[in-house]
Amino acid sequence: MRAQVKVKIRKMSISDISEVLRIEESSFPAPWSYWLFFQELISPQRYYIVAEKDEKIIGYAGINWVIDEAHITTIAVVKKERRKGIASLLLKKLIEKAKELNLKFLTLEVRESNIAAQLLYLKHNFRVEGRRMGYYSSPREDALIMTLYL
Ligand SMILES: CC(C)(COP(=O)(O)OP(=O)(O)OC[C@H]1O[C@@H](n2cnc3c(N)ncnc32)[C@H](O)[C@@H]1OP(=O)(O)O)[C@@H](O)C(=O)NCCC(=O)NCCS
Repeated sequence: MRAQVKVKIRKMSISDISEVLRIEESSFPAPWSYWLFFQELISPQRYYIVAEKDEKIIGYAGINWVIDEAHITTIAVVKKERRKGIASLLLKKLIEKAKELNLKFLTLEVRESNIAAQLLYLKHNFRVEGRRMGYYSSPREDALIMTLYL
């Protein structure tokens, strides 16, 4: 059985961005900037959360939505805390929020080579619905579109 980690999920605030960026920069080949997170946090129809352990941020995720469709914009967990169910906790919270908002589905793009993330989404009942050719740069790669109907 996997060790239980004491983790708190709460809303992300602007003062969290610098801590979040440390995870972002070691998780993505083309990381978001401070200003991108800032813009997201001050925009309407956004919901960003962090996972905290011992008062340190160990993961984060976010959605935005238009009409009845939500889009997962980001999700990452600090390397040393991976495979402990943290991303699953974040994802469940996003799904709960999308249901609360009466949205019809949650969708996202994932790099074709990112098998860990695809398995995470599959475990939470997302299914592959399509492909966006050359969606990503550095390195250039197709995106799979994965969707969960709520
Ligand atoms: C993808 C990511 C967010 C997963 O975070 P995590 O906290 O390790 O995920 P969880 O522990 O909740 O894993 C849930 C399930 O996802 C799958 N999974 C997660 N990481 C995996 C890996 N490295 N290899 C295989 N399966 C994996 C497994 O099915 C796992 O369930 P299990 O542990 O019971 O087998 C993390 O690896 C990460 O931050 N990656 C870099 C950023 C990224 O790629 N984000 C996604 C962008 S679309």
